[in-house]
Formats: sequence, structure tokens, C-alpha cells
Amino acid sequence: MPRTLPAPRKLPGPPPSSWGPPLVPIPSPRDSPLVSPAPPGPAPGRLSVHPTVSPQVLPRSHPEPSFGPTPGPSPVSPRSLPRCSPGPPPVFPRSSPVPPSVPPLSLPRCPPRPPRGLSPVPPPSLPGPSPPLPGPSPVPPRPSPVPPPAGIGRTAAMAAIRSVKGLVALVTGGGSGLGRATVERLVQHGARVVLLDLPTSAGGQLAQELGEHCAFAPADVTSPKEVGAALAVAQKQFGRLDLAVNCAGIGIAVKTYNSKKDKVHDLEDFQRVINVNLVGTFNVIRLSAQLMSQNKPDADGHRGLLVNTASVAAFEGQVGQAAYSASKGGIVGMTLPIARDLAPLGIRVVTIAPGLFSTPLLAGLPEKVRNFLGQQVPFPSRLGDPAEYAHLVQALAENPMINGEVVRLDGALRMQP
Ligand SMILES: NC(=O)c1ccc[n+]([C@@H]2O[C@H](COP(=O)([O-])OP(=O)(O)OC[C@H]3O[C@@H](n4cnc5c(N)ncnc54)[C@H](O)[C@@H]3O)[C@@H](O)[C@H]2O)c1
Repeated sequence: MPRTLPAPRKLPGPPPSSWGPPLVPIPSPRDSPLVSPAPPGPAPGRLSVHPTVSPQVLPRSHPEPSFGPTPGPSPVSPRSLPRCSPGPPPVFPRSSPVPPSVPPLSLPRCPPRPPRGLSPVPPPSLPGPSPPLPGPSPVPPRPSPVPPPAGIGRTAAMAAIRSVKGLVALVTGGGSGLGRATVERLVQHGARVVLLDLPTSAGGQLAQELGEHCAFAPADVTSPKEVGAALAVAQKQFGRLDLAVNCAGIGIAVKTYNSKKDKVHDLEDFQRVINVNLVGTFNVIRLSAQLMSQNKPDADGHRGLLVNTASVAAFEGQVGQAAYSASKGGIVGMTLPIARDLAPLGIRVVTIAPGLFSTPLLAGLPEKVRNFLGQQVPFPSRLGDPAEYAHLVQALAENPMINGEVVRLDGALRMQP
């Protein structure tokens, strides 16, 4: 059933030269192969469109997104505090915006400042009396950083950079596209994987092809019970969980209000996208963290890694992407607080924001259109290969220092309105 979309726009004519600046036409969702039936779910028969491609005619020169000044005084946070305290540790009042679960920070005391005008450095052996140095005295050297805990010298920390070999992973949306490439790469590199996807997906078949190191867990990411059952498979079949990768996701392209058709965005559609992309991701995160917390920490205190998939649409949402961008923006927004929540457990959280990738939806497009989309990417000027997404997941798993970050994987693409 056609959605409330702007009137279909014609695909650009065959000669690619006519597609040049200033307009970047993208096929209409109504007649575009980008449109595909939405995955089975609460609203069967709805249409979904490739998330990062909106059915618009896109002006090539677009203003940079403007980020306004930080509004108002920011609440007290560890970041806004000095690195060392000039006095006793601060005590937050009861009305402090810092949640009660956050213990008051105790900062290292500043080293005592020498009296003004006097140098802490012994005077050089110059002939005659040494003149006082002009202006304030040089700041004494900062105290040396906290010494590494015993046994965690440079060598031991480097040893924490490990291979994915032997890891146990859960990959949602593992039956298709980015998730599928991740499952395949992890298994190829010696990990064992629980592939979570809808029962109707190709996940079961892929798991069979990959053999004993891959188990299919049919589940909907929005269901606590079904995700719990998938995690139970990881525990029972492979003994634990080290890595969870959230790739399950859907997208729609609907204008907030279509004035030509006097049609407003369906609220249920909006809620469905938020529910699968954002709530589903959080559901997997929270339950996975619970299971990972049972892992024995490695020498670095590391227990596991959660990888989420946002989109460049979280930053440059296009016309028709209100729901999709909101869902992906939510994933971006929760990355740091969840990383902070789980840091005491040694569980890292990283989000990948892909640009345009050649997953099944785009793979079905005519080659000319695929090439055209690829040319919008500054460099490399092509669609991303799902294997490149999978490679980044592996790199994140292997490098223990990356945490609480959103990594764009887009060849410098900035989507246009
Ligand atoms: N392909 C891209 O260019 C691109 C760009 C940016 C972001 N993304 C994001 O990457 C993720 C993967 O995209 P893709 O292109 O591989 O898509 P895809 O459609 O090929 O794969 C998505 C998978 O998620 C599964 N899925 C959907 N709803 C589910 C649910 N409720 N529970 C469990 N599984 C569910 C589907 O069955 C499918 O196998 C999505 O979150 C998407 O928004 C993709």
C-alpha cells in the first residue's frame, strides 16, 4: 500500500551527465526498488524504504548543519569539574542534578602553589644575584599520572588487544545485510555466534551454512522474552557472551505532514520505527549487559562489548526521515550514558553510524542508480561493502580503548536534505 509520500519523482534519464549538479535526484519510494515490504511485525503490509536514502530531489549545495551554542548552564557533571580540586572534595547538595546513584567525586588535591613571584626551580648558577622572574611563577609540573596497577604495564595493556577468535557473539538482524556480513566475518575469524533475526528471515539458512559455530535464534528485538531466549542459547550452547552487535532495523520515508495530500504522518508508523530501532536496541543492550557481567574480567578488567548501529541520518536526516532519524539519534544519544553505566562492569559501548552500504535493498537497484549513489560519497566514491562494516566491528572488538563513541563509516558522506 503506498505511503503518504510526496508525488513520485521521475528517475533521472539514462545519461548520467544529466544528473550532475546542482540536483541529486533519488528515486521515489512509490516506484523505486528502494521500497520493499516492511519486515513482518506489528504493521504488516507497510512499506519500508532504505533508511539513509530519502525519495527526494536533493540540492547538492546544502548548508552545513548548524550546532547552536550550548543552551544555558549545564548541569554539574564530572566533565565540568576541574582536574584537581583546590580544596576539599565538592559535596553535591540534595537538589544536585547528579543522580543519587552517582557518588560524590573526590578529586586529587592540587599540589601547593608556590608563593607568587618565586620560582620553584632552583636558580641557575649565573654570576651575581639571580633576578626575580617577571610575572607569575611557572606552574609546577603536573603530578605524574596515576601509576598503572601492578601488572598492567604497557606490555600487559597491549596484550589486551586481542583477536575475536574464541569470542561468543550475538548479532541481531544477522540474516541480512550488515548483520549477515558481521556474522560471517566473526565465524570466519574463529568466533561463535548466535544469529538473532525474525523467524521469517534468512537467518536460519545462514546459520545452517556456517555450521556448528553459528546458532540461529528466531526472535524479535522488541520482545524481552524472545531476546532473553536468544541469550540463553548463547549461554547454553557457547557458555557465555562477549560481544553483542545490534544490526536489526527498519526504515520508512514519510513526511511529517504532506500538504498536497493533506495527510499527517501516521503515529503508529513513527512508534513502530522507534520501537524496533531504538527500544529494540536498548532491549538487547540491557539483557546482554546482564549476561556479560557474569564474565570473568580479563587483565584489563574487560568483560564485553556492545556495538550498536545508528546511521548518518542521526546527524543529517533527510526529508521523510523524521521517525528513522529520531530512532537513530536516540541510539547516538544513549551511547555515552550507557558506556558510563556499564564502565564499572568493564563493558564497553560503541555505535557505528554507516553511510550508504550495499545491502540487499540497494543491491536490487539498477547499476546506474547504484553508481550514482556511490558517486555522492566523496571517497571512496562507491557504496560501502557490508564486509567493511563487519571489519569495523572486529576492530572495535580487538581494540579495548575505544568506548562511549559514535564512529561514522561513510567515506566522508554528508547527506543532503
Ligand atoms: N544499509 C545501509 O546503507 C545502512 C545505512 C545506515 C544504517 N543502516 C542500519 O544498519 C542496520 C542494518 O541495515 P541493513 O541494510 O543490513 O538492513 P537489512 O534490511 O538488510 O537487514 C536488517 C535485518 O534486521 C531484521 N529485523 C528487522 N526487524 C527486526 C526485529 N524487530 N527483530 C529482529 N530482527 C529484525 C531483518 O529481518 C533483517 O534481516 C539497520 O539498523 C539500518 O538502519 C544501514
